[in-house]
Amino acid sequence: MSDFSNKVVLITGAAGGIGIATAKSFAEQGAKLALVDLNKEDLEKAVTKAGISDALLLTADVTKEEEVKKYVDDTVEKYGKIDSFVNNAGINGDFANIVDQTVTNLKNVLDVNVVGVFLGLKYVMKVMIDQKQGSIVNVASNGGLLGAPGMSTYVASKHAVIALNKTAALEGADFGIRSVAVCPSGVDTQMMRSIERNAMPDKVDEAKATFEASVPMNRYAEASEIADLITFLASEKASFISGSYYRIDGGQGATSV
Ligand SMILES: NC(=O)c1ccc[n+]([C@@H]2O[C@H](COP(=O)([O-])OP(=O)(O)OC[C@H]3O[C@@H](n4cnc5c(N)ncnc54)[C@H](O)[C@@H]3O)[C@@H](O)[C@H]2O)c1
Repeated sequence: MSDFSNKVVLITGAAGGIGIATAKSFAEQGAKLALVDLNKEDLEKAVTKAGISDALLLTADVTKEEEVKKYVDDTVEKYGKIDSFVNNAGINGDFANIVDQTVTNLKNVLDVNVVGVFLGLKYVMKVMIDQKQGSIVNVASNGGLLGAPGMSTYVASKHAVIALNKTAALEGADFGIRSVAVCPSGVDTQMMRSIERNAMPDKVDEAKATFEASVPMNRYAEASEIADLITFLASEKASFISGSYYRIDGGQGATSV
């Protein structure tokens, strides 16, 4: 456990599985939270279920520049600073091999997973540069490191997140800003339910078993396991870590170079 007392943590995609587990972990370590997602009711339900008693709940579409600027401004107005930013909102999109994939789907996925992450960096880094400190965790995926049949749009978007992470680390270094990426394999959230439906619409249990069997540890990650890595990387215990990415994948990455 780290000490996030008096630290302000901003998390996007906070109503989702990894986002709310991460919010809970930061809250348990004393952080003040600003939580962003598309829908206020979903955020309220998620914080109630997680037992988080106090958080600034902000609705924004991360693909819209003015809404990103506003969630950052609202956080600074309420708390006066942003110590850590978890750039987490993402979608998986519809799967198809490249020959059957649509440009519409490609653009939708890139819009959320790349434009959304880029805009978050753009406006949060402005605040952190003025503060001369801050930590950022960008949620990529093992799809940011590998190819995956049917998942070209998602995989392209997550490779871009790794690229943005490296560049943010270089541009932030002189200002005391660290930027790190995490690369989970399948995590037991609604996103994997969507991926299972995409992969085998009529056999979701079989899809789940197949995905889990591709992991040496033979299971999905729990969202809390990803949250533990994110909170560590955001903390002062990770003070010399920047520009890198961390696999959290039950050994799956060990099967490739
Ligand atoms: N679940 C997995 O297997 C897995 C594996 C690797 C990486 N990831 C990544 O982790 C992150 C979180 O995923 P999750 O598993 O918690 O999924 P999730 O679907 O449970 O949560 C994603 C959240 O992002 C929000 N969101 C989507 N589009 C948005 C937009 N335009 N503006 C604001 N919010 C938006 C959704 O409303 C949702 O609450 C994503 O970036 C995802 O790609 C997930």
